[in-house]
Amino acid sequence: MHFPQALLHLFLTLTGSRAFTVPARVTQNAPACNAAAIRSALKAITWDSDHAESLKPEYWADLAQTNLDWFKDFSVTTSGSFETGDVKWFEDGQLNACYNALDRHVLNGKGDKVAIIYEADEAGDVTKYTYSQTLARVSQIANMMKSEGVKKGDVVTVYMPMTPDVILTMLACARIGAVHSVVFAGFSEDAIADRIAAAESKFVFTTNVGLRGGRSIPLKKTVDNAIEKDRAKKFVEKVFLFKRTEEEVNFVEGRDIWADDLLAKQSTTCEAEVMNAEDPLFILYTSGSTGSPKGILHTTGGFSLYAMHTTKTSFDLQEDDIYACVADAGWITGHTYICYGPLLNGATTTVFESTPLYPDEGRYWDMVERLKINVFYTAPTAIRSLMRFGDESPKKYDLSSLRVLGSVGEPINPAAWDWYHNVIGGGRATVVDTYWQTETGGHVACNLPGIHDPKAGSCRGGTYGIDIGILDPQTGQEKVGNDVDGVLVIKKPWPGMARTVLGDHERFMTTYLQPYPGNYFAGDGARRDEDGYIWVTGRVDDVINSSGHRIGTAEVESALVADSSVAQAAVVGFPHDIKGEGIACYVTLNNGLEMTDDMKKSLKMAVRSSIGPFATPDLIINAPALPMTRSGKIMRRILRKIAGGENEFGDTSTLADPSCVPVLVENARS
Ligand code: PRX
Repeated sequence: MHFPQALLHLFLTLTGSRAFTVPARVTQNAPACNAAAIRSALKAITWDSDHAESLKPEYWADLAQTNLDWFKDFSVTTSGSFETGDVKWFEDGQLNACYNALDRHVLNGKGDKVAIIYEADEAGDVTKYTYSQTLARVSQIANMMKSEGVKKGDVVTVYMPMTPDVILTMLACARIGAVHSVVFAGFSEDAIADRIAAAESKFVFTTNVGLRGGRSIPLKKTVDNAIEKDRAKKFVEKVFLFKRTEEEVNFVEGRDIWADDLLAKQSTTCEAEVMNAEDPLFILYTSGSTGSPKGILHTTGGFSLYAMHTTKTSFDLQEDDIYACVADAGWITGHTYICYGPLLNGATTTVFESTPLYPDEGRYWDMVERLKINVFYTAPTAIRSLMRFGDESPKKYDLSSLRVLGSVGEPINPAAWDWYHNVIGGGRATVVDTYWQTETGGHVACNLPGIHDPKAGSCRGGTYGIDIGILDPQTGQEKVGNDVDGVLVIKKPWPGMARTVLGDHERFMTTYLQPYPGNYFAGDGARRDEDGYIWVTGRVDDVINSSGHRIGTAEVESALVADSSVAQAAVVGFPHDIKGEGIACYVTLNNGLEMTDDMKKSLKMAVRSSIGPFATPDLIINAPALPMTRSGKIMRRILRKIAGGENEFGDTSTLADPSCVPVLVENARS
């Protein structure tokens, strides 16, 4: 059904809505007679034409001009292409992301509005920072960095716990034009050293310790060990050290700096550096199917606009909302949806330091009640792990403030979706399933609240500016229409997309832009159902998604073969009730060694200390031989099935030695 456009626009004007602005606050079950519900119904009807408009560069030009403050206006909205791999947005415009996230709101009279709510590790230990206070401290951090020699373009490595200082350090980098490279504080010393070396980073920010779930985590010690390694040592000049507790740590004179002491001496004003829209804002390392993690690079103008717009539209963000994304700043979700997106919108964002199980499984819900959270954003793995405890715990709390419930990181299974919607959201709050990646900068597919009816388990389809296609994986031909499956691509450049892999543009091209020329290839499979809804079916490459963490099988394999007892290893994901995917490692030991329980433990430890605890294998399976094709390729399909407890392996006749399969089945069960 189509309304005549003129009539529709008249109606939207009368009801106070503007085309292309944020959808009105509505829940999916709003009463039919309410004006907001009527607006919502009309918006759903006009979505196709709104979406078509948003695929035009003018849409973004208009938003960029009206929603960001520019030191110099841009004259070119976008240039470059997927074919040539040189996409740019607003390239001759000048702005500063930190200025837009903080100063702009203070100058607009919102200085006393709360920018950050810090929910520390102990439940109820809450500190609030206004926009003015946040700007003052960010300026001090920025001045401190400058006084110690950090310059525009320098890469600053950030290995910090979830205190507001991690966010403020990112913003301080943006303020002076330094490029932050945040390393999730669960990564090992080896992983930190690799990232420091790859980015040639001279400066590191950390804290003496982190606090999580009542435990002290020796972050500074891990940083020290990382910098001990020659590949990192040759770059690092200064380590800025915040104090999370009074715990003593090793202090290296001449290299380490007590940030809190030096900060107190800094001015609370610091001019924001004039940045070109295409200047790097940050790099963030992420795992791929082969080789070492890639330093994904995002730029200032396009990323800022995209972070801002998707936060506003995907979550139907309102001026007075209390917004809480409980991810970690060390992943892209923390960058876009704890730091930049909410603050660029002038919203109140929450920094959550603890875990969902501390002091008990009611922690999130207790926090929602106390802080009166309206928008809550987490991963299906957390929902599944809390569901196990039943409905009693959430029912003890008043969760009526919740209006939008976001989900991210992996497909959300219908049971978890139902629980989230009904038990947590009281059947009122809209569940928004957001599909995206480190490389996309922000959401690229989701059901928009107030516009699209959700379907449990589906992220619906492309958001504003995103043209999703499903291609035949073999021929690359687009599968048009509904009821099709294939690989998921994005057909047109968008402002928030990554521009390159740091130091390896060729890898950017071969991974994302060359597999299906003219398209951005996400690495995921997808199905478009009979109603046009997209269902992401998971990675089509060798990347495991475990508890929403992206882990390259190649990284786990190299951690295993680095162990002197291992001759060969093949790593695959398998279905796991809580984590989505578990990590199964098939290991061939060197001659004469036996796969004992102790050996399994020590191999798990090897992976844990090489990558980080989140990559700890679930299964170590003794593999005297691996199922290889005659051309020497490991048949991972069979390994995945064995680890998942299946008994049917399809055609095994192409294997060089099919007799290894029953041995592996036996070993997987022992
Ligand atoms: O496989 C998709 C899955 O997570 C991958 C991206 O991982 P990462 O870059 O670490 O970013 C995670 C946070 C955005 C994707 O390629 N993924 C992410 N969100 C969803 C998802 N799969 C299905 N549904 C989602 N909502």
